[in-house]
Amino acid sequence: MPSTKLQIEALDATFGARIADLTLTSIDDDTFAKLYAAWLEYGLLVFPGQFMSRAEQIAFARRFGALEFELAALSNVQEDGTVRPDDNEDEIIKVLKGNMGWHHDSTYMAVQAKGAVFTAEVVPTRGGATGFADMAAAYEALDATTRTRVEGLRAHHSLYHSQAKVGHVGQLGSHGVGFDNKGGYSGYGFHDGPVSVRPLVKTHPETGRKNLLIGRHAYDIVGMDAEQSEALLAELVEFACQPPRTYHHQWQSGDAVVWDNRRLMHQATPWPMEQPRVMWHSRIAGDPVTEAALTA
Ligand SMILES: [Fe+2]
Repeated sequence: MPSTKLQIEALDATFGARIADLTLTSIDDDTFAKLYAAWLEYGLLVFPGQFMSRAEQIAFARRFGALEFELAALSNVQEDGTVRPDDNEDEIIKVLKGNMGWHHDSTYMAVQAKGAVFTAEVVPTRGGATGFADMAAAYEALDATTRTRVEGLRAHHSLYHSQAKVGHVGQLGSHGVGFDNKGGYSGYGFHDGPVSVRPLVKTHPETGRKNLLIGRHAYDIVGMDAEQSEALLAELVEFACQPPRTYHHQWQSGDAVVWDNRRLMHQATPWPMEQPRVMWHSRIAGDPVTEAALTA
């Protein structure tokens, strides 16, 4: 059977493409190879109307590599079907709100994630888009002085730090292994291993392009005082996450996306939190050869 020719429609940004008319659960290896090449080129692929089952999502994510974790719900719906109270107390709501800051996934772990498959099951009537931002294009858009300034700098990355900034005091062990007893994503990342240190400018292991590696988990650039470091990191995020380097995906139920976490940052955005929102996240593991944290 001949492999499918991909109908790739570039998004109106420096990255990203929409691929309709493809059923992800039934693509052959040749088609997947083309899809993987498109993923490296575009950084984000959007596939409307997939309605994958949980097992199908895990199987699709595995085609990109080993998984850091198979599937986690990013959801404000409780076991009894009611919506979690937006009362500044609920631990999972605090994590969902923390995710509204721009970030790369798992930079606070020993190995940064390669990417993620993310799907929508229940979407609110408005809001709740996921934003993506292109850190390769951002690096290339920096002026020469700033490029020189950031080259060679290293920052610490910690989920304790990023959650504390949104008023959430994360505690080791407070969330078991990081998922609640129904597999919901809660405090994954509150670990007692060494604090990761990562370069601000990183070369993509598969494309060779340089990108900024910044976002909400980054703090305390080595050799700078905390204030200076905070100011520089904030300035870089502010500059980087602007059109045409951003795209916000407004979800329809059944949509699937897969992004390259080595290149893109992402963010959740607000929605009326009395409305249910249920998303499923499969995290593709980074290669320890290229995505491991540096030693401080
Ligand atoms: Fe994330």
